Amino acid sequence: MKNMLIAGNWKMNTNVFESQKLVEYILGFVKTNATLKSKVLVCPPFTSVYAIGQMIENTKLLLGAQNCYYEEKGAFTGEISIPMLEYCGVSHIIIGHSERRSYFKEEDEIINKKLLAILEYNLTPILCIGETLDERNQGKTFDILINQLDKDLAGLTGDTIERVVIAYEPVWAIGTGISATREQVQEAHDFLRHFLVGKFGEKANRVYLLYGGSLSEKNADEILSIENVNGGLIGGASLKGDSFCSIIQTAEKYII
Ligand code: 13P
Repeated sequence: MKNMLIAGNWKMNTNVFESQKLVEYILGFVKTNATLKSKVLVCPPFTSVYAIGQMIENTKLLLGAQNCYYEEKGAFTGEISIPMLEYCGVSHIIIGHSERRSYFKEEDEIINKKLLAILEYNLTPILCIGETLDERNQGKTFDILINQLDKDLAGLTGDTIERVVIAYEPVWAIGTGISATREQVQEAHDFLRHFLVGKFGEKANRVYLLYGGSLSEKNADEILSIENVNGGLIGGASLKGDSFCSIIQTAEKYII
């Protein structure tokens, strides 16, 4: 069995008007292709989340957020809680993105708290992990992935693991136009699957393992055809409706 989730992480791009235009395009595609088996998710900036939530209500398109805070409410200036997002129609929340880890100093302990809180609210966390170029060149890739998974997934059991989506995003491939090679992606995803099944048991076979990092309509076929790749977390190419939808179409070929 191979499931697919194609997710667009729009990062800090698009105002409300631009977000709506982009969603109109993607919705058009999703509705025209009524038999789509891939899950399709868009993660706009917070300012667009409510408006997009209204547009996608009762459609097959899913809505995600790019971050959250783990407390329910209170004096946390500038933060957004999980129930606030849920109210807008959000089902998935990205956490641990390398941009948040590096620019905003988000550490594994906080990421773990967010992950557990998201599950508590019955939403789906998309946990991003990945090594830097230095770490890869020093042969530390798998140590880094294990360390992130051990810390970020602390407290999870074999029963809850299948509710988590994991995105392998090598930091050096993000926004560079240089994606990891097919061999590198295959090696990392096989390793992740093996590690998760070893740690959590059989249900980890159902965890969606996404690849992220310069995934585009050009390399989608080569990457999405890999056995342990269950879709992509797409930045730049998700901002262009035709590129994003072309990646969805490619994913459809590999659903078993
Ligand atoms: P790019 O697709 O622009 O490389 O971004 C990937 C990413 O960071 C998705 O979360």
